[in-house]
Amino acid sequence: RNQIVLQDAKSLVQLRRLHVACVLDKAKTSAEHRWIARHLSDPYVKAARQNNYRCRSAFKLLEIDEKYKILHPGHCVIDCGAAPGAWSQVAVEKVRFSDGDFQASAGFVIGVDLLHISPLEGAVFLSNSDITDPVVQDKIINLLPSGQADVILSDMAPNASGIRKLDHQRLVNMCLSLLDLSDKVLRPGGTFLCKLWDGSESNLIRDRLRQRFSDVRNVKPKASRTESAETFILAKLHK
Ligand SMILES: C[S@@+](CC[C@H](N)C(=O)[O-])C[C@H]1O[C@@H](n2cnc3c(N)ncnc32)[C@H](O)[C@@H]1O
Repeated sequence: RNQIVLQDAKSLVQLRRLHVACVLDKAKTSAEHRWIARHLSDPYVKAARQNNYRCRSAFKLLEIDEKYKILHPGHCVIDCGAAPGAWSQVAVEKVRFSDGDFQASAGFVIGVDLLHISPLEGAVFLSNSDITDPVVQDKIINLLPSGQADVILSDMAPNASGIRKLDHQRLVNMCLSLLDLSDKVLRPGGTFLCKLWDGSESNLIRDRLRQRFSDVRNVKPKASRTESAETFILAKLHK
């Protein structure tokens, strides 16, 4: 594709149509076909491409931050389940000062994921790392410039088994482990944002958060698909 010299915008449109047709052709099942078709026509996927975000989820965080103002210049942010890195991209944009200064006082983003995360200027990544592992949590604490974080973000999700109750329980367990991390590193007044797949244990997480934070609410950004069980819990004012 890189070898093709595009003469004009028409060629670009034709090339894109050809690419879409090829991708759809490769889908094996009708579910795959539906997923790819939806993905290719998704306005957030297009916007992510246009704005150089690594994936559409960037817009979930942008929307939440726009409304609740959780990320500020100078903040230290931990991004849990960071791959491919779109939330970290947003966090880096928000925590640096407008002159683009990345000095120690100018904000710090640390991203952690089981998968590899490609480097990003302004962020430190712990790839191939399990955030629930106490050794990884100690590494994070040692990396934080002041030993404390202003914000913990989690868009983390286990590989879905398709069994809704089981997937919900696994994500709840991950969130509980992040509460241990927040007890260790989150400064008083700090913010915690985590993804949940709604289910019977969601209230447990909300109750645990209310013990630790003064302001706890559910958030469902428009970029999160309505048909998805995905919801976010935003907890502000760490006690
Ligand atoms: C929906 S993706 C995150 C997308 C990311 N917020 C972004 O904007 O690029 C969820 C990620 O959680 C990661 N994950 C799941 N369990 C994890 C764990 N125990 N420790 C670290 N990362 C985990 C997965 O590997 C996956 O990359």
